[in-house]
Amino acid sequence: MLLPRPTRLNRQDGYFVLDGTTGLHAPDSVADLVRELLTPATGLPLPAAAEPGPGVLSFQMGTEPGLGAEGYRLTVGRVGVRAIAATADGLRWAAQTVRQLLPDEVYATGPVRGVDWRLPAVEVVDLPAYAWRGSLLDVARWCHPLPFLYRYVDLLALHKLNTLHLHLTDDQGWRFEVHGHPRLAEVGGFRSESPAGHARDGRGDGVRHGGWYRQADLRDLVAYAARRGVRIMPEIDLPGHAQAAIAAYPDLGNDPRRRLSVGTTWGISTHVLNLEPATLDKVRAIFDEVVDVFPFEYVHVGGDEVPTEEWAASPAATAHARRLGLSRMAQLQGWWTGQLAAHLAGHGRRIAVWDELLDRGAPAGATIFAWRGTDRIAAARTAGLPVVAAPYTHTYFDWAEADGPDEPLAIAGVLPLDTVYGFQPGPVLGVQGQLWSEYLPSSQRVEWRAFPRLAALAEVGWSGPTVVDDAGVVPAPALAEFRARLAVHLRRLDQLGVSYRPLER
Ligand code: ACM
Repeated sequence: MLLPRPTRLNRQDGYFVLDGTTGLHAPDSVADLVRELLTPATGLPLPAAAEPGPGVLSFQMGTEPGLGAEGYRLTVGRVGVRAIAATADGLRWAAQTVRQLLPDEVYATGPVRGVDWRLPAVEVVDLPAYAWRGSLLDVARWCHPLPFLYRYVDLLALHKLNTLHLHLTDDQGWRFEVHGHPRLAEVGGFRSESPAGHARDGRGDGVRHGGWYRQADLRDLVAYAARRGVRIMPEIDLPGHAQAAIAAYPDLGNDPRRRLSVGTTWGISTHVLNLEPATLDKVRAIFDEVVDVFPFEYVHVGGDEVPTEEWAASPAATAHARRLGLSRMAQLQGWWTGQLAAHLAGHGRRIAVWDELLDRGAPAGATIFAWRGTDRIAAARTAGLPVVAAPYTHTYFDWAEADGPDEPLAIAGVLPLDTVYGFQPGPVLGVQGQLWSEYLPSSQRVEWRAFPRLAALAEVGWSGPTVVDDAGVVPAPALAEFRARLAVHLRRLDQLGVSYRPLER
Protein backbone atom coordinates (compact mmCIF):
# COMPACT_ATOMS: atom_id res chain seq x y z
CA MET A 1 0.00 0.00 0.00
CA LEU A 2 2.76 2.41 -0.95
CA LEU A 3 1.96 5.95 -1.99
CA PRO A 4 3.17 7.06 -4.47
CA ARG A 5 2.84 3.69 -6.17
CA PRO A 6 6.26 2.18 -6.94
CA THR A 7 7.31 1.30 -10.46
CA ARG A 8 7.52 -2.42 -9.61
CA LEU A 9 6.80 -4.30 -6.39
CA ASN A 10 6.86 -8.05 -5.83
CA ARG A 11 5.66 -9.34 -2.49
CA GLN A 12 7.50 -12.36 -1.19
CA ASP A 13 6.94 -14.69 1.73
CA GLY A 14 7.85 -13.68 5.21
CA TYR A 15 8.99 -10.61 7.09
CA PHE A 16 12.10 -8.91 8.35
CA VAL A 17 11.69 -7.90 11.98
CA LEU A 18 13.52 -4.89 13.35
CA ASP A 19 14.69 -5.09 16.95
CA GLY A 20 17.22 -3.59 19.32
CA THR A 21 20.07 -5.39 17.59
CA THR A 22 19.20 -4.38 14.02
CA GLY A 23 22.19 -2.59 12.53
CA LEU A 24 22.36 0.20 9.98
CA HIS A 25 24.90 0.40 7.18
CA ALA A 26 24.59 3.59 5.13
CA PRO A 27 26.49 6.73 4.09
CA ASP A 28 26.49 9.13 7.06
CA SER A 29 23.91 11.58 5.74
CA VAL A 30 21.51 8.75 4.87
CA ALA A 31 22.10 6.97 8.19
CA ASP A 32 21.18 10.19 10.03
CA LEU A 33 17.96 10.40 8.01
CA VAL A 34 17.02 6.75 8.58
CA ARG A 35 17.38 7.23 12.33
CA GLU A 36 15.44 10.51 12.21
CA LEU A 37 12.64 8.68 10.38
CA LEU A 38 12.53 5.44 12.37
CA THR A 39 13.87 5.96 15.87
CA PRO A 40 11.41 8.43 17.48
CA ALA A 41 8.48 5.99 17.27
CA THR A 42 10.30 2.65 17.45
CA GLY A 43 12.92 3.61 20.03
CA LEU A 44 15.35 1.35 18.14
CA PRO A 45 18.93 2.67 18.24
CA LEU A 46 19.95 1.21 14.83
CA PRO A 47 23.67 1.07 15.66
CA ALA A 48 26.13 1.48 12.80
CA ALA A 49 27.07 -1.78 11.10
CA ALA A 50 30.37 -2.09 9.26
CA GLU A 51 28.97 -4.35 6.55
CA PRO A 52 25.66 -5.22 4.96
CA GLY A 53 24.48 -8.66 6.01
CA PRO A 54 22.12 -10.55 8.30
CA GLY A 55 20.23 -8.33 10.73
CA VAL A 56 21.29 -5.12 8.94
CA LEU A 57 19.42 -2.38 7.12
CA SER A 58 21.82 -1.55 4.35
CA PHE A 59 21.70 1.50 2.09
CA GLN A 60 24.45 1.51 -0.49
CA MET A 61 25.43 3.59 -3.45
CA GLY A 62 26.01 1.46 -6.47
CA THR A 63 25.69 1.47 -10.19
CA GLU A 64 22.63 -0.31 -11.31
CA PRO A 65 21.44 0.57 -14.78
CA GLY A 66 18.08 2.21 -15.26
CA LEU A 67 17.57 3.79 -11.85
CA GLY A 68 18.41 7.34 -12.93
CA ALA A 69 19.19 10.14 -10.50
CA GLU A 70 16.52 9.32 -7.93
CA GLY A 71 15.56 5.66 -8.38
CA TYR A 72 16.41 2.79 -6.06
CA ARG A 73 16.11 -0.96 -5.70
CA LEU A 74 14.97 -2.24 -2.32
CA THR A 75 15.15 -5.87 -1.30
CA VAL A 76 13.57 -6.84 1.99
CA GLY A 77 14.39 -10.45 2.82
CA ARG A 78 13.82 -12.42 5.97
CA VAL A 79 17.36 -11.91 7.18
CA GLY A 80 18.22 -8.42 6.00
CA VAL A 81 17.28 -5.35 4.02
CA ARG A 82 19.27 -3.91 1.17
CA ALA A 83 18.69 -0.68 -0.76
CA ILE A 84 20.83 0.34 -3.67
CA ALA A 85 20.80 3.57 -5.65
CA ALA A 86 23.15 5.63 -7.77
CA THR A 87 22.75 8.68 -5.55
CA ALA A 88 22.11 9.60 -1.93
CA ASP A 89 18.73 10.97 -3.09
CA GLY A 90 17.74 7.53 -4.36
CA LEU A 91 18.70 6.07 -0.98
CA ARG A 92 16.63 8.74 0.76
CA TRP A 93 13.54 7.73 -1.22
CA ALA A 94 14.29 4.10 -0.36
CA ALA A 95 14.32 5.12 3.32
CA GLN A 96 10.86 6.69 2.89
CA THR A 97 9.65 3.44 1.34
CA VAL A 98 11.04 1.40 4.23
CA ARG A 99 9.13 3.68 6.57
CA GLN A 100 5.88 3.23 4.62
CA LEU A 101 6.35 -0.56 4.74
CA LEU A 102 6.45 -0.48 8.55
CA PRO A 103 3.27 -0.33 10.68
CA ASP A 104 1.56 3.10 10.62
CA GLU A 105 2.67 3.76 14.19
CA VAL A 106 6.17 4.44 12.86
CA TYR A 107 4.81 7.92 12.00
CA ALA A 108 3.96 8.63 15.64
CA THR A 109 5.97 11.54 16.97
CA GLY A 110 6.87 9.78 20.24
CA PRO A 111 7.75 6.23 21.33
CA VAL A 112 5.10 3.55 20.73
CA ARG A 113 5.25 0.30 22.70
CA GLY A 114 3.90 -3.11 21.83
CA VAL A 115 4.24 -2.86 18.04
CA ASP A 116 5.93 -5.54 16.01
CA TRP A 117 8.27 -3.48 13.81
CA ARG A 118 8.27 -5.80 10.83
CA LEU A 119 8.72 -5.22 7.12
CA PRO A 120 7.04 -7.47 4.56
CA ALA A 121 9.53 -9.22 2.29
CA VAL A 122 9.46 -7.38 -1.03
CA GLU A 123 11.50 -6.57 -4.06
CA VAL A 124 10.89 -2.97 -5.14
CA VAL A 125 12.34 -1.19 -8.16
CA ASP A 126 11.24 2.40 -8.19
CA LEU A 127 12.06 5.59 -10.03
CA PRO A 128 10.18 8.83 -10.70
CA ALA A 129 8.35 9.75 -13.88
CA TYR A 130 9.18 13.45 -13.49
CA ALA A 131 12.35 15.09 -12.24
CA TRP A 132 10.49 18.10 -10.71
CA ARG A 133 7.88 17.27 -8.11
CA GLY A 134 7.10 20.45 -6.30
CA SER A 135 4.87 22.22 -3.85
CA LEU A 136 4.51 25.99 -3.65
CA LEU A 137 3.86 27.40 -0.21
CA ASP A 138 2.91 31.07 -0.03
CA VAL A 139 4.39 32.45 3.18
CA ALA A 140 3.96 36.05 2.00
CA ARG A 141 0.19 36.40 2.46
CA TRP A 142 0.43 34.76 5.88
CA CYS A 143 3.73 34.29 7.62
CA HIS A 144 3.58 30.61 8.47
CA PRO A 145 5.78 29.78 11.46
CA LEU A 146 9.21 28.28 10.93
CA PRO A 147 8.40 25.00 12.78
CA PHE A 148 5.57 24.45 10.31
CA LEU A 149 8.02 24.81 7.41
CA TYR A 150 10.02 21.93 8.92
CA ARG A 151 6.89 19.83 9.26
CA TYR A 152 5.89 20.70 5.71
CA VAL A 153 9.29 19.57 4.40
CA ASP A 154 8.77 16.27 6.23
CA LEU A 155 5.37 15.89 4.56
CA LEU A 156 6.82 16.57 1.11
CA ALA A 157 9.60 14.01 1.62
CA LEU A 158 7.11 11.43 2.81
CA HIS A 159 5.37 11.79 -0.58
CA LYS A 160 8.68 11.71 -2.51
CA LEU A 161 8.14 15.33 -3.53
CA ASN A 162 11.57 16.87 -4.07
CA THR A 163 11.01 20.63 -4.25
CA LEU A 164 9.60 23.24 -1.89
CA HIS A 165 8.88 26.48 -3.75
CA LEU A 166 8.79 29.18 -1.08
CA HIS A 167 6.85 32.23 -2.24
CA LEU A 168 8.61 34.69 0.05
CA THR A 169 7.36 38.08 -1.07
CA ASP A 170 4.17 39.70 -2.28
CA ASP A 171 2.12 42.87 -2.02
CA GLN A 172 0.99 41.95 1.49
CA GLY A 173 4.30 40.88 3.01
CA TRP A 174 8.07 40.54 2.52
CA ARG A 175 9.44 37.59 4.53
CA PHE A 176 13.12 37.36 3.52
CA GLU A 177 15.70 39.14 5.65
CA VAL A 178 17.95 41.32 3.47
CA HIS A 179 20.99 42.63 5.35
CA GLY A 180 21.71 45.35 2.81
CA HIS A 181 18.10 46.59 2.80
CA PRO A 182 16.72 45.85 6.25
CA ARG A 183 13.48 47.80 5.80
CA LEU A 184 12.26 45.16 3.31
CA ALA A 185 11.57 42.76 6.17
CA GLU A 186 11.28 45.22 9.05
CA VAL A 187 8.74 47.44 7.29
CA GLY A 188 7.61 45.27 4.35
CA GLY A 189 7.06 42.30 6.66
CA PHE A 190 4.10 43.87 8.48
CA ARG A 191 0.65 45.03 7.42
CA SER A 192 -1.91 46.90 9.45
CA GLU A 193 -4.73 44.45 8.79
CA SER A 194 -6.01 41.65 6.55
CA PRO A 195 -9.33 41.04 4.82
CA ALA A 196 -12.05 39.69 7.09
CA GLY A 197 -14.00 37.12 5.13
CA HIS A 198 -13.71 37.17 1.34
CA ALA A 199 -11.72 40.05 -0.14
CA ARG A 200 -14.67 40.99 -2.34
CA ASP A 201 -16.67 41.79 0.82
CA GLY A 202 -14.28 44.69 1.41
CA ARG A 203 -14.00 44.36 5.19
CA GLY A 204 -10.77 44.47 7.18
CA ASP A 205 -10.07 42.56 10.40
CA GLY A 206 -8.21 45.45 12.07
CA VAL A 207 -5.46 43.07 13.21
CA ARG A 208 -1.81 43.77 12.46
CA HIS A 209 -0.03 40.77 10.93
CA GLY A 210 3.54 40.11 10.00
CA GLY A 211 6.89 38.46 10.46
CA TRP A 212 9.91 37.41 8.46
CA TYR A 213 12.54 34.70 8.39
CA ARG A 214 16.14 35.29 9.41
CA GLN A 215 18.70 34.16 6.87
CA ALA A 216 20.36 31.95 9.48
CA ASP A 217 17.06 30.16 10.12
CA LEU A 218 16.44 29.65 6.42
CA ARG A 219 19.92 28.18 6.02
CA ASP A 220 19.11 25.63 8.72
CA LEU A 221 15.82 24.82 7.00
CA VAL A 222 17.63 24.35 3.68
CA ALA A 223 20.08 21.93 5.32
CA TYR A 224 17.26 20.00 7.00
CA ALA A 225 15.39 19.73 3.71
CA ALA A 226 18.53 18.65 1.86
CA ARG A 227 18.96 15.72 4.26
CA ARG A 228 15.51 14.61 3.09
CA GLY A 229 16.19 15.07 -0.63
CA VAL A 230 14.07 18.25 -0.76
CA ARG A 231 15.47 21.32 -2.51
CA ILE A 232 14.11 24.73 -1.61
CA MET A 233 13.51 27.18 -4.45
CA PRO A 234 13.06 30.76 -3.20
CA GLU A 235 10.71 33.07 -5.05
CA ILE A 236 11.17 36.82 -4.84
CA ASP A 237 8.21 37.97 -6.91
CA LEU A 238 9.15 41.05 -8.97
CA PRO A 239 8.56 43.53 -10.57
CA GLY A 240 4.85 43.22 -9.71
CA HIS A 241 3.33 41.85 -6.50
CA ALA A 242 5.91 44.17 -4.95
CA GLN A 243 3.89 46.68 -2.95
CA ALA A 244 5.45 45.57 0.35
CA ALA A 245 8.92 46.31 -1.07
CA ILE A 246 7.82 49.72 -2.36
CA ALA A 247 6.24 50.50 1.01
CA ALA A 248 9.64 49.81 2.58
CA TYR A 249 11.65 51.77 -0.02
CA PRO A 250 9.49 54.27 -1.93
CA ASP A 251 12.32 54.94 -4.40
CA LEU A 252 11.71 51.45 -5.84
CA GLY A 253 8.30 52.61 -7.08
CA ASN A 254 7.28 54.80 -9.96
CA ASP A 255 6.43 57.81 -7.82
CA PRO A 256 8.90 58.21 -4.94
CA ARG A 257 6.77 60.99 -3.39
CA ARG A 258 3.93 58.58 -2.84
CA ARG A 259 3.88 56.75 0.49
CA LEU A 260 2.37 53.31 0.06
CA SER A 261 1.52 50.94 2.86
CA VAL A 262 2.00 47.18 2.77
CA GLY A 263 -1.05 45.68 1.05
CA THR A 264 -4.07 44.91 3.22
CA THR A 265 -6.39 43.47 0.58
CA TRP A 266 -5.94 40.49 -1.71
CA GLY A 267 -5.67 40.88 -5.48
CA ILE A 268 -3.24 42.53 -7.88
CA SER A 269 -1.67 45.83 -6.87
CA THR A 270 -1.11 48.31 -9.70
CA HIS A 271 2.08 49.48 -7.97
CA VAL A 272 5.15 47.90 -9.53
CA LEU A 273 8.91 48.52 -9.45
CA ASN A 274 10.37 51.25 -11.63
CA LEU A 275 12.90 50.32 -14.32
CA GLU A 276 15.70 52.64 -13.22
CA PRO A 277 19.30 51.35 -13.07
CA ALA A 278 19.46 52.13 -9.35
CA THR A 279 16.45 49.88 -8.72
CA LEU A 280 17.92 47.07 -10.81
CA ASP A 281 21.12 47.40 -8.78
CA LYS A 282 19.15 47.07 -5.55
CA VAL A 283 17.32 44.05 -6.90
CA ARG A 284 20.59 42.43 -7.97
CA ALA A 285 21.94 43.00 -4.47
CA ILE A 286 18.83 41.39 -3.00
CA PHE A 287 19.32 38.33 -5.17
CA ASP A 288 23.00 38.19 -4.17
CA GLU A 289 21.76 37.57 -0.63
CA VAL A 290 19.08 35.14 -1.82
CA VAL A 291 21.55 32.89 -3.63
CA ASP A 292 23.84 32.97 -0.63
CA VAL A 293 21.11 31.39 1.50
CA PHE A 294 19.53 29.04 -1.06
CA PRO A 295 22.05 26.83 -2.90
CA PHE A 296 19.47 25.32 -5.27
CA GLU A 297 20.24 25.88 -8.95
CA TYR A 298 16.85 27.48 -9.62
CA VAL A 299 15.78 30.90 -8.39
CA HIS A 300 12.19 31.99 -9.07
CA VAL A 301 11.90 35.67 -9.91
CA GLY A 302 8.10 35.74 -10.17
CA GLY A 303 6.77 37.92 -12.95
CA ASP A 304 3.05 37.07 -12.74
CA GLU A 305 0.30 39.66 -13.01
CA VAL A 306 2.39 42.78 -13.66
CA PRO A 307 0.18 45.77 -14.59
CA THR A 308 1.95 48.20 -16.91
CA GLU A 309 -0.09 51.37 -16.22
CA GLU A 310 2.61 52.97 -14.07
CA TRP A 311 5.28 52.37 -16.71
CA ALA A 312 3.01 53.74 -19.43
CA ALA A 313 2.50 56.88 -17.32
CA SER A 314 6.21 57.26 -16.56
CA PRO A 315 8.29 59.45 -18.94
CA ALA A 316 11.44 57.57 -17.89
CA ALA A 317 9.91 54.14 -18.62
CA THR A 318 8.43 55.18 -21.97
CA ALA A 319 11.75 56.73 -23.03
CA HIS A 320 13.50 53.53 -21.97
CA ALA A 321 11.10 51.43 -24.05
CA ARG A 322 11.77 53.71 -27.05
CA ARG A 323 15.52 53.35 -26.62
CA LEU A 324 15.18 49.57 -26.56
CA GLY A 325 12.91 49.67 -29.63
CA LEU A 326 10.04 47.99 -27.78
CA SER A 327 6.56 48.52 -29.22
CA ARG A 328 4.69 47.44 -26.08
CA MET A 329 5.26 48.47 -22.49
CA ALA A 330 4.74 44.85 -21.48
CA GLN A 331 7.96 43.91 -23.27
CA LEU A 332 9.83 46.00 -20.75
CA GLN A 333 9.20 43.21 -18.32
CA GLY A 334 10.99 40.72 -20.56
CA TRP A 335 13.96 43.08 -20.87
CA TRP A 336 14.04 43.68 -17.11
CA THR A 337 13.81 39.96 -16.31
CA GLY A 338 16.60 39.30 -18.80
CA GLN A 339 18.85 41.64 -16.79
CA LEU A 340 18.15 39.56 -13.70
CA ALA A 341 18.64 36.29 -15.57
CA ALA A 342 22.08 37.46 -16.71
CA HIS A 343 23.00 38.49 -13.18
CA LEU A 344 21.86 35.17 -11.73
CA ALA A 345 23.66 33.26 -14.50
CA GLY A 346 26.80 34.92 -13.13
CA HIS A 347 26.06 33.08 -9.89
CA GLY A 348 25.61 29.83 -11.83
CA ARG A 349 21.83 29.94 -11.37
CA ARG A 350 18.88 29.43 -13.68
CA ILE A 351 15.76 31.52 -13.41
CA ALA A 352 12.20 30.32 -13.09
CA VAL A 353 9.30 32.61 -14.02
CA TRP A 354 5.51 32.55 -14.24
CA ASP A 355 4.07 31.99 -17.71
CA GLU A 356 3.20 35.67 -18.32
CA LEU A 357 6.80 36.04 -19.49
CA LEU A 358 5.95 33.94 -22.53
CA ASP A 359 3.99 36.96 -23.82
CA ARG A 360 6.54 39.52 -22.68
CA GLY A 361 9.89 38.16 -23.83
CA ALA A 362 11.00 35.28 -21.62
CA PRO A 363 14.79 35.22 -21.27
CA ALA A 364 16.52 32.32 -23.05
CA GLY A 365 16.67 29.26 -20.83
CA ALA A 366 14.09 30.49 -18.30
CA THR A 367 11.99 27.69 -16.84
CA ILE A 368 8.32 28.51 -17.27
CA PHE A 369 5.82 27.83 -14.51
CA ALA A 370 2.64 27.36 -16.52
CA TRP A 371 -0.25 28.36 -14.27
CA ARG A 372 -2.91 30.05 -16.40
CA GLY A 373 -4.17 26.80 -17.95
CA THR A 374 -2.94 23.67 -19.67
CA ASP A 375 -2.59 25.63 -22.95
CA ARG A 376 0.26 27.55 -21.29
CA ILE A 377 2.14 24.25 -20.89
CA ALA A 378 1.87 23.76 -24.65
CA ALA A 379 2.86 27.39 -25.29
CA ALA A 380 6.02 27.04 -23.21
CA ARG A 381 6.96 23.85 -25.02
CA THR A 382 6.35 25.53 -28.37
CA ALA A 383 8.68 28.31 -27.25
CA GLY A 384 11.30 25.62 -26.59
CA LEU A 385 11.51 26.42 -22.88
CA PRO A 386 11.55 23.96 -19.98
CA VAL A 387 8.21 23.94 -18.20
CA VAL A 388 6.84 22.97 -14.82
CA ALA A 389 3.14 22.15 -15.12
CA ALA A 390 1.27 24.14 -12.48
CA PRO A 391 -2.11 24.93 -14.07
CA TYR A 392 -4.84 26.23 -11.80
CA THR A 393 -7.22 23.68 -13.31
CA HIS A 394 -5.33 20.77 -11.70
CA THR A 395 -2.79 22.09 -9.20
CA TYR A 396 -4.23 25.11 -7.34
CA PHE A 397 -4.90 23.55 -3.97
CA ASP A 398 -5.90 26.90 -2.47
CA TRP A 399 -9.13 26.27 -4.39
CA ALA A 400 -11.87 24.51 -2.48
CA GLU A 401 -12.01 20.77 -2.99
CA ALA A 402 -15.81 20.71 -2.92
CA ASP A 403 -18.53 23.30 -2.44
CA GLY A 404 -20.49 22.11 0.57
CA PRO A 405 -21.87 24.39 3.27
CA ASP A 406 -19.15 23.25 5.69
CA GLU A 407 -16.35 24.06 3.28
CA PRO A 408 -14.02 26.73 4.70
CA LEU A 409 -13.72 29.99 2.77
CA ALA A 410 -11.58 29.59 -0.36
CA ILE A 411 -10.28 31.87 -3.07
CA ALA A 412 -12.20 29.93 -5.72
CA GLY A 413 -13.34 26.44 -6.48
CA VAL A 414 -13.90 23.66 -7.17
CA LEU A 415 -10.86 21.38 -7.67
CA PRO A 416 -11.79 17.82 -6.67
CA LEU A 417 -9.29 15.11 -5.75
CA ASP A 418 -10.21 12.97 -8.77
CA THR A 419 -9.42 15.83 -11.16
CA VAL A 420 -5.96 16.14 -9.64
CA TYR A 421 -5.40 12.41 -9.94
CA GLY A 422 -6.38 12.50 -13.63
CA PHE A 423 -3.92 15.28 -14.50
CA GLN A 424 -1.99 14.59 -17.73
CA PRO A 425 1.01 16.94 -17.64
CA GLY A 426 2.59 15.65 -20.86
CA PRO A 427 6.32 15.84 -21.57
CA VAL A 428 7.45 18.49 -19.09
CA LEU A 429 10.16 18.91 -16.47
CA GLY A 430 7.61 18.18 -13.81
CA VAL A 431 4.53 19.08 -11.82
CA GLN A 432 3.82 21.33 -8.88
CA GLY A 433 0.90 21.93 -6.51
CA GLN A 434 0.20 25.52 -5.41
CA LEU A 435 -0.88 26.66 -1.96
CA TRP A 436 -1.47 30.38 -2.24
CA SER A 437 -2.31 31.42 1.26
CA GLU A 438 -4.77 34.34 1.07
CA TYR A 439 -7.40 32.05 2.62
CA LEU A 440 -4.96 29.77 4.44
CA PRO A 441 -4.17 31.85 7.53
CA SER A 442 -3.26 28.89 9.74
CA SER A 443 -1.01 25.87 9.34
CA GLN A 444 -4.05 23.62 9.89
CA ARG A 445 -5.83 25.24 6.97
CA VAL A 446 -2.76 24.73 4.77
CA GLU A 447 -2.84 21.03 5.61
CA TRP A 448 -6.57 20.82 4.99
CA ARG A 449 -6.18 22.23 1.49
CA ALA A 450 -2.95 20.34 0.74
CA PHE A 451 -4.10 16.86 1.66
CA PRO A 452 -5.14 14.57 0.20
CA ARG A 453 -4.83 16.41 -3.14
CA LEU A 454 -1.06 16.86 -2.86
CA ALA A 455 -0.78 13.10 -2.31
CA ALA A 456 -2.64 12.59 -5.61
CA LEU A 457 -0.32 15.01 -7.41
CA ALA A 458 2.71 13.35 -5.80
CA GLU A 459 1.60 10.12 -7.39
CA VAL A 460 1.18 11.79 -10.80
CA GLY A 461 4.68 13.19 -10.42
CA TRP A 462 6.40 10.05 -9.19
CA SER A 463 4.40 7.16 -10.65
CA GLY A 464 3.36 9.03 -13.79
CA PRO A 465 -0.10 10.07 -14.97
CA THR A 466 -2.80 7.46 -14.68
CA VAL A 467 -4.91 6.33 -17.61
CA VAL A 468 -7.89 8.51 -18.48
CA ASP A 469 -10.74 7.98 -20.93
CA ASP A 470 -11.48 10.16 -23.94
CA ALA A 471 -13.24 12.67 -21.72
CA GLY A 472 -10.13 12.92 -19.51
CA VAL A 473 -11.80 11.03 -16.66
CA VAL A 474 -10.01 8.35 -14.63
CA PRO A 475 -11.88 5.04 -15.08
CA ALA A 476 -13.67 3.78 -11.97
CA PRO A 477 -11.40 0.77 -11.27
CA ALA A 478 -8.22 2.88 -11.39
CA LEU A 479 -9.82 5.47 -9.14
CA ALA A 480 -11.01 2.81 -6.71
CA GLU A 481 -7.50 1.34 -6.51
CA PHE A 482 -6.00 4.77 -5.79
CA ARG A 483 -8.63 5.69 -3.23
CA ALA A 484 -8.19 2.38 -1.38
CA ARG A 485 -4.45 2.97 -1.18
CA LEU A 486 -5.02 6.59 -0.18
CA ALA A 487 -7.33 5.53 2.66
CA VAL A 488 -4.49 3.42 4.08
CA HIS A 489 -2.02 6.24 3.49
CA LEU A 490 -4.19 8.69 5.43
CA ARG A 491 -3.66 6.55 8.53
CA ARG A 492 0.00 7.57 8.31
CA LEU A 493 -1.06 11.21 8.22
CA ASP A 494 -3.35 10.49 11.20
CA GLN A 495 -0.30 9.40 13.19
CA LEU A 496 1.37 12.69 12.32
CA GLY A 497 -1.74 14.64 13.27
CA VAL A 498 -2.11 16.15 9.80
CA SER A 499 -5.34 18.17 9.44
CA TYR A 500 -6.23 16.71 6.04
CA ARG A 501 -9.66 16.91 4.50
CA PRO A 502 -11.33 13.50 5.03
CA LEU A 503 -12.16 11.49 1.93
CA GLU A 504 -15.75 11.77 0.78
CA ARG A 505 -17.58 8.46 0.73
C1 ACM B 1 -0.38 33.24 -9.84
O1 ACM B 1 -1.29 32.48 -9.46
N1 ACM B 1 -0.56 34.55 -9.84
C2 ACM B 1 0.91 32.72 -10.29
